[in-house]
Amino acid sequence: MNELALNEDFFNFLIASPTPFHAVSTMASRFRNHGFQHLREKDSWKLKEGNSYFVIREDGAIIAFSLGSKAYTKEGFRILGAHSDSPCLQIKPRPDINNQHYHQLGIEVYGGALLNPWFDRALSIAGRVCCRMGDNSLQTLLLDLQRPLLIIPSLAIHFDREANKKHPINPQQHLAPLISQVVSDTFPDFKKILMEQISREHQDKDVAEILGFDMFCYDTQPPCHIGYKNEFISGSRLDNLLSCYVGMRSMLEANGSGNRMFICNNHEETGSTSATGALGSLPVAVIERLIPDVESRQICLGRSFFISMDNAHGVHPNYADKSDPSHSIQLNHGPVIKINANQRYATNSFSNASFQMLAKEVGVKTQEFVMRSDMACGSTIGPLIASQLGVRTVDVGAPSLAMHSIRELTGSQDPYLLYQPILHFLSREHLPGDER
Ligand code: CO
Repeated sequence: MNELALNEDFFNFLIASPTPFHAVSTMASRFRNHGFQHLREKDSWKLKEGNSYFVIREDGAIIAFSLGSKAYTKEGFRILGAHSDSPCLQIKPRPDINNQHYHQLGIEVYGGALLNPWFDRALSIAGRVCCRMGDNSLQTLLLDLQRPLLIIPSLAIHFDREANKKHPINPQQHLAPLISQVVSDTFPDFKKILMEQISREHQDKDVAEILGFDMFCYDTQPPCHIGYKNEFISGSRLDNLLSCYVGMRSMLEANGSGNRMFICNNHEETGSTSATGALGSLPVAVIERLIPDVESRQICLGRSFFISMDNAHGVHPNYADKSDPSHSIQLNHGPVIKINANQRYATNSFSNASFQMLAKEVGVKTQEFVMRSDMACGSTIGPLIASQLGVRTVDVGAPSLAMHSIRELTGSQDPYLLYQPILHFLSREHLPGDER
């Protein structure tokens, strides 16, 4: 696996994953194709040493694990974490708006989206619908309309001469995308558009009606290499599908006799409090089922190590004063170890040193990020999982620019530079610090 092949596969993963539901479904099919068995929370589990499994909750979170060939309850777990969601615009339950002869869709902002870049983009819609089927059962189906379908036109500068100086956006008033021009009294209806899509994507399904949906807008422009020497990658949802991809890929390729686990949560961008978020019960529930005996579980967790992956901020050349001058992060210069005095990141000197060791052993340089002391620091799933499981934790991520824009930027080498130490972590004979 070289850098180019990894990026190409990553681009396909991004395109196949316009929503967290699609990302989880894409990961599940990859795991299944590599011999991981699908476990359901509502069933009882019969686990065997040396085997690999995955669990999905509510279509948006997935945990995959490989049990070591030795007695797995006596060994620690090498745990990876990432999140499946990205800030975006979510379609409201009753979205249809008939306004000035346009058919528009009402939206809510999901997560901390940078809103300006959503204007004048060729958007499509994807997500999941819950349907009443012909036999009166309920079934959830994934949908991805794929084609350019929506647009949020900017206001012409002639109506707002101050637009380049200040441009406040009212999400209720200014962000409803246009889907159609209303040319007759037969007002097109959003659920009808979804029903048409069901007949294209799920021809074999006998759907009576759509009762609910979680649908999101996304940019139809595919990811690409960019720059004179293709130094960069420009794409949507790099935060945090880049980490999801690296986690999944490393789980598929890891070898060695150790226990391995990949936790991928939803709802990080909205604060992680949900059944599928990092503050939800899924990680704890899975570990409790793997090791029901309390003391054995505590021993196992005491021997475990968690690498939380989420993208990091590179220094922006046009806004360099926003970065701490001694910690200015460069794209293509290696994975970033994220540190914060107030535990917005879970890294400490031990976990920092451990990740540096892993990277050194595969010839990869690392960088250290701290926020400017006069600015508030973001956070991620690292501290949340660390506080619930009590495992040694490091927060790392690929450097990026334009985080939470509809299109983000990372270095062309960055996915591969993260993948190498992560794969090594999963395959290494001992966990970092446990050489004795
Ligand atoms: Co993130």
